[in-house]
Amino acid sequence: MSRHDEIKASYKQLGNIGTMYDGIITRSTLLGKLMDGLIWGLDKELAAKWINDALAQIPENFSGKLLEVPIGTGVLTMPLYQRLANADITCLDYSADMMKNAEKRAAAMNVRNVTFVQGDVGALPFEDESFDIVLSLNGFHAFPNKDAAFRETCRVLKPGGIFCGCFYIKDEFKRTDWFVKHMYVPKGFFTPPFETKESLKERLDGLYSQANVHTVNAEGIFSCVK
Ligand SMILES: C[S@@+](CC[C@H](N)C(=O)[O-])C[C@H]1O[C@@H](n2cnc3c(N)ncnc32)[C@H](O)[C@@H]1O
Repeated sequence: MSRHDEIKASYKQLGNIGTMYDGIITRSTLLGKLMDGLIWGLDKELAAKWINDALAQIPENFSGKLLEVPIGTGVLTMPLYQRLANADITCLDYSADMMKNAEKRAAAMNVRNVTFVQGDVGALPFEDESFDIVLSLNGFHAFPNKDAAFRETCRVLKPGGIFCGCFYIKDEFKRTDWFVKHMYVPKGFFTPPFETKESLKERLDGLYSQANVHTVNAEGIFSCVK
């Protein structure tokens, strides 16, 4: 089985129990709080900080074109898209099973400005320079081909556009590194090689200007301008 297929199978299982994933990622359940504390060393304030920081570059009244990849279940961003009623949002994920949760959520929240596309970040089905913002939350530690993912997200961004988001960064928080190696990689949720804070900054500097990288424990938050 290719790594693409392994990842798809892993996220198919998660997609089928989407509410459990949502509880973990938003720490709104006991399991989510336990995992956040044990694996990521995050309390309520730090957990709120990483998501706020990752979304901080998106203007409050944004009305342009935004690509989010991967959307997953949409639990972190659908409330934002509900507020950005004049923006044109495209959400892409490789796993139709994860994304069907996001589509249900959008329908339940009456969010009408979002289009869902199943696809591979390594071969995005969009024209060059199509988007004003490309947002990627918790994706780059999962993507199988990092070079293609960085290349494609840059290709579809307009000059002057913003690339921002977050993902796991190694060598920042030992406990997380252990769980990633012994649990998330074998289960197919994360795929090495992983970036360090320095290697990510270097990579972004090679493609963008104004690259900024900081971490909240092992969660790396980045933003840059094409
Ligand atoms: C940890 S989830 C993150 C989802 C969401 N952004 C969040 O933060 O809740 C990782 C997602 O990456 C998706 N993914 C993995 N490989 C992909 C690829 N090659 N192209 C697009 N999405 C991919 C998975 O299907 C999964 O939904």
